Amino acid sequence: MRDLVRETTLTANDFMVPLFIVEGTKTKTEIPSMPDYFRFSLDLATAEAKRLYDLGIKGVLLFVKVADAEKDNTGLAALKPDGLMQRSIRAIKQAVPELVVATDVALDPFSSYGHDGIVKDNKILNDATVAVLTKMALSHAECGADIVAPSDMMDGRVLAIRQELEKAGYVNTVIMSYSAKYASAFYGPFRDALDSAPGFGDKKTYQMDVANRKEAIIEAARDVEEGADIVMVKPGMAYLDIVRDLANEIQVPIAVYQVSGEYAMLKAAAEKGWLDHDAVMLEQLMAFKRAGASIIISYHAEQALKLL
Ligand code: PBG
Repeated sequence: MRDLVRETTLTANDFMVPLFIVEGTKTKTEIPSMPDYFRFSLDLATAEAKRLYDLGIKGVLLFVKVADAEKDNTGLAALKPDGLMQRSIRAIKQAVPELVVATDVALDPFSSYGHDGIVKDNKILNDATVAVLTKMALSHAECGADIVAPSDMMDGRVLAIRQELEKAGYVNTVIMSYSAKYASAFYGPFRDALDSAPGFGDKKTYQMDVANRKEAIIEAARDVEEGADIVMVKPGMAYLDIVRDLANEIQVPIAVYQVSGEYAMLKAAAEKGWLDHDAVMLEQLMAFKRAGASIIISYHAEQALKLL
């Protein structure tokens, strides 16, 4: 009876998996603050993408970690035609053409300041950053990315990226905008994973105030007007009210990002024997669907699929 009347279902079609890629070959390194989650060299990341696809995962979201020597205040390493992200997109699309490949578009992994934008006098330059992000998104599209996902929270970047993609003929490239991305303390383990913590200050001048709700709707509506195909809420669990608000107000699909800190919390509690890992995980993932998300970006996706 419960099965017949269930309002929400969770399936393999709901998930995207973040992949962390590093230079080198044959390396798979566990991220200390994210047990059972790894950074892969590109050869192994490609194999991993294939394995995930064979399990039923529909999409991956790529992040790269570059050496400190490659980082600057202009995002040069993000634009190299043979940069790590560019090579990763090509390799994974070639190995697993049917897997949806999304890419992170932001400067922080390439920034000597660890910020998502270009820095001048301790401030982030919005428009100069948008100009670089636009080139970055185009370069990802040229390599075959199905989705570009700007995670920087600069103003006006969706429109600029959309116009650039249209001009270059990439009319089918999807923009998944991190529209309601909060200045959250839940990103800590991710910044360990990519060695991308801000060198000074915080991200509060561009990421959203945790206290705000209406602003999320304004941000998402603006992104849709500018040409976003999917809008995202991030983090996940603490922001289910925002997921539901956007699901009610916004007509494009909603993605939610269950972030690194959420993953780490559950792993830690389970390690101590304080929570039933798999049961709590599935309950959280179901809650994202119930709140109105179409896409769940989650480090738990593989484990969830095995249980489903
Ligand atoms: C950076 C970016 C971050 C995450 C995704 N893209 C971190 C940040 O904004 O500092 C966080 C993901 C996670 O915590 O799992 N553009």
